[in-house]
Amino acid sequence: MNIYQKALEERKQQHLQRTLPLPPEGIDFYSNDYLGLAQSQSLSLAIEEECRNAPKLNGATGSRLLSGNSEYAEDVENDIAKFHNAESALIYASGYMANLGLISSLATKETTLICDELIHASLIDGVRLGHAKKVRFKHNDLDDFAEKLKKAEGQVIVLVESVYSMDGDICPIKELIALCNEHEAFLIIDEAHAFGIYGENGEGLVQSLKLEDEVFARIVTYGKASGIHGAAVAGPSWLKEYQVNFSRSMIFSTAPPNHHFSSIAAMYKHLPKCGADRNLLRENIEYFIRKRKASDGSWVDSKTHIQSLIVPGNKEVVELAEKLKEAEINALPIRKPSVAEGKERIRFCLHSYNTKEEIDLLFKTLN
Ligand SMILES: Cc1ncc(COP(=O)(O)O)c(C=O)c1O
Repeated sequence: MNIYQKALEERKQQHLQRTLPLPPEGIDFYSNDYLGLAQSQSLSLAIEEECRNAPKLNGATGSRLLSGNSEYAEDVENDIAKFHNAESALIYASGYMANLGLISSLATKETTLICDELIHASLIDGVRLGHAKKVRFKHNDLDDFAEKLKKAEGQVIVLVESVYSMDGDICPIKELIALCNEHEAFLIIDEAHAFGIYGENGEGLVQSLKLEDEVFARIVTYGKASGIHGAAVAGPSWLKEYQVNFSRSMIFSTAPPNHHFSSIAAMYKHLPKCGADRNLLRENIEYFIRKRKASDGSWVDSKTHIQSLIVPGNKEVVELAEKLKEAEINALPIRKPSVAEGKERIRFCLHSYNTKEEIDLLFKTLN
């Protein structure tokens, strides 16, 4: 057995083995398709129409910096910037690539990155690739944050998520902005789990609070509530220019093809029409929280579409997920090291298309 096979064997023994499952039958409490847009026939037709009208080119032929740029790509980005009330937007192939490129490029030796301890792996990897000093603060803890901020040197950049992907709770945006302003720190907010859901047209949590002018940059990702794939960084115009010069995940990669830009353009036109889906999701969140409060178990205090039941132990959490599966309920067991030891959990993602009966069945099976 070689060293890599041994590592695999260890994973299996610790109940940590990762696999590539095919979509299961049953009730969806696990996907990020919060508004059902990945399955939406009308979005699908709108994408087809947009593709038909886009310049014909199967592939981009090169990086955006070489042969891969186009007026079409720039028009789509200008529309995204307008939608997000930002000076500029830069599209990436995915949220992972956006975070990797943006954060690592800003993380110079003269920078200190102050990160919430629960930020997503894609932000962490961006931090790791950079050269900045790194400081973590306790999750959503403003006192700890203020203390770290006071001591930070050089240009300070703060990394948080508006809706946290594992706990489903929301960052204290206004307070973070006030503290960042005092110290001239740049606040970057990953809106992966908020884009599509908050705001009149699904703009995200920051814009729903009319705080976009107070935030340095936002990352919006398109693979979750908006049902497609890709991401963009919205921020000041110089930030786009900076990324074009320093963001390696963008510079050294073939640009997305036109059909990728088309699906993004169609999705942005479709999002304002999804008010009814956003309302259905909100109703399901309220119903779920009422049931959660009346039930046993150690739940994370979340008011969003991400709800987590803490079940300490990798083996225990997998067993509970299997019990749910027997009742045809699909919910993901999140194990160490994705979460801290003792914080293993079943993560329930709520959707506009979940029914009250499905939520009832879930709680009946858990209790
Ligand atoms: C908070 C957060 N940021 C970024 C990403 C990465 O986005 P993408 O899936 O588009 O690569 C994810 C994906 O799970 C996420 O949860």
